[in-house]
Amino acid sequence: MSLSAAQNQSSPAGTTASAPDSSKALYGGKSTRRITIHDIAAATERGEKWPMLTAYDAMTASVFDEAGIPVMLVGDSMGNVHLGYETTVPVTMDEIAILSAAVVRGTKRALIVADLPFGSYQEGPVQALRNATRLIKESGVGAVKLEGGERSLEQIRLLVEAGIPVMAHIGLTPQSVNAMGYRVQGRGDEAAHRLLRDAKAVQDAGAFAVVLELVPEELATQVTQTLHIPTIGIGAGAGTDAQVLVYTDMVGLTGGKVPRFTKQYANLRQVLGDAAKEFAEEVVGGTFPAPEHTFH
Ligand code: KIV
Repeated sequence: MSLSAAQNQSSPAGTTASAPDSSKALYGGKSTRRITIHDIAAATERGEKWPMLTAYDAMTASVFDEAGIPVMLVGDSMGNVHLGYETTVPVTMDEIAILSAAVVRGTKRALIVADLPFGSYQEGPVQALRNATRLIKESGVGAVKLEGGERSLEQIRLLVEAGIPVMAHIGLTPQSVNAMGYRVQGRGDEAAHRLLRDAKAVQDAGAFAVVLELVPEELATQVTQTLHIPTIGIGAGAGTDAQVLVYTDMVGLTGGKVPRFTKQYANLRQVLGDAAKEFAEEVVGGTFPAPEHTFH
């Protein structure tokens, strides 16, 4: 968000600013039609902050859609949290395409963004276009996301020219875990300048938004104030336009250690485990099924 948009949010002493039209808000607004990248640009212009969650199946996506989450990402994080891989690297186009179609079918309002998985765009723009086209045509998503700043510019340009909205992803890019590891990016002057250059480059190439993953808050805020497209933070502090979380972390379903930047808003692991134990005990004890669950 540019500084001018931020200034729209507060009125200087002695002036009367017109109240923002809350019926248009991305989160909490009245519109029931599918959200587009133009709605996102307008929200950024109004200085609105907005939430994004990952989703990997129709039922969970429908819950988030009914909760008003305006943008859902069918992330390749499905590799770690949904498909049982150790990283996002093995995720295939077929896996992304099938689960993206399910998320689209489960939702009415949210903009659905599908990740281009590792190996589906690194060969070059033509490969990126072929795979992104498949996700748009076959799965019905409204946009795709790919990782990389300057290294992915040709891909972003060709997709945008072809009419495919692109969300960029810089900072920590998990598909490069084998080269990069999992650590905060953009620390130190040189790395910070590189990240800022990447951010401006993806904007100039036509990306409609950019994810900033695991970046110091001060740098993420500077990027946000420099760009006119929205920044979506994950582990990037409070200064970005939007925030994204992997939903299994957000609801406490992910087992083991979760990153410090996530916040757990529920403990579904406990709820599901308790329900499974209660069911098992009733089956073993002969109290399920009861007469009301039984046909004669
Ligand atoms: O795959 C994913 O879930 C992501 C988010 C962490 C932004 O890329």
